[in-house]
This record gives sequence, C-alpha cells and structure tokens, in this order.
Amino acid sequence: MTVRFDWPPGLLTGVEEVDEQHREIFRRANALFEACVKGKGAEEAKTLLVFMQGLVVEHFAAEERLQEVIRYPNRSAHRESHQFLLRSLSELSGLLAEEGAGEELVIQLNRWLVGLLVNHIAGEDHVFAAFVRAAPGR
Ligand SMILES: [Fe+2]
Repeated sequence: MTVRFDWPPGLLTGVEEVDEQHREIFRRANALFEACVKGKGAEEAKTLLVFMQGLVVEHFAAEERLQEVIRYPNRSAHRESHQFLLRSLSELSGLLAEEGAGEELVIQLNRWLVGLLVNHIAGEDHVFAAFVRAAPGR
C-alpha cells in the first residue's frame, strides 16, 4: 500500500521561497507516511519526525521574518497559527514515543497535514502571499 500526498498545485502561493519550503515539508511527510505504512519502525519515523519539526520551525521563522520586513498587518495572528501547528506537531512526537509508528500516527499526521493545507496554506498563507506579491520591490 502506498500512501502519498500529492502537492495540489492550487496551493502555490506564488512566492518562490515559501512554495519551495511547503513542497519540502510535503516530501518529508510522504517519507514519514511511507515509513509508518511499511512498518519501518519507530526509530526511522522518529528521525523523520524530528527532521520535519526542524524544517517546519525553520520555515515558519522564515515566513515570520518576511512578514516583519514587509510589515504584514496580520503577522501576530499568523504567528499564533504557526505556534498552534507546532504544538500539535510536538503532540505527534509524544504519540510516537507512546505508541510507536503505527496506524494512529498516520491518522494524526494526516489530520495535521490537512490542517496545514486547508486551514493554513490555502487560507492564511495565501492572504499573506498576496500581500508579499503586492509589496514594492518584489
Ligand atoms: Fe504560514
């Protein structure tokens, strides 16, 4: 069985560095799904999850820096969404530690990704990206 999340092109924000980071998060998530589904064990899933956390932290920080530079008006609400997503991602680490890389982790990770996709990238990131594209000098 293959579990893959294909990157929906409609989610592109048109801001190249942001889109590239979003795609990388998805590539990593797919590797993590595969590790869970193929029963590669908790160790590999843990390594991937830790790596993905680092990636997401870095990505959110990059977005927040860009928002500061362009004085994006919704930056504090946007930062709160990032913090919420990071908290739920660390809950996934807790789940992995308690129950291993099983079906529940796949389900929860799926839910987290849908939250990132539907609520965050397709929603808030698109509003932010429109602001970036309209900013002078971009
Ligand atoms: Fe964001």
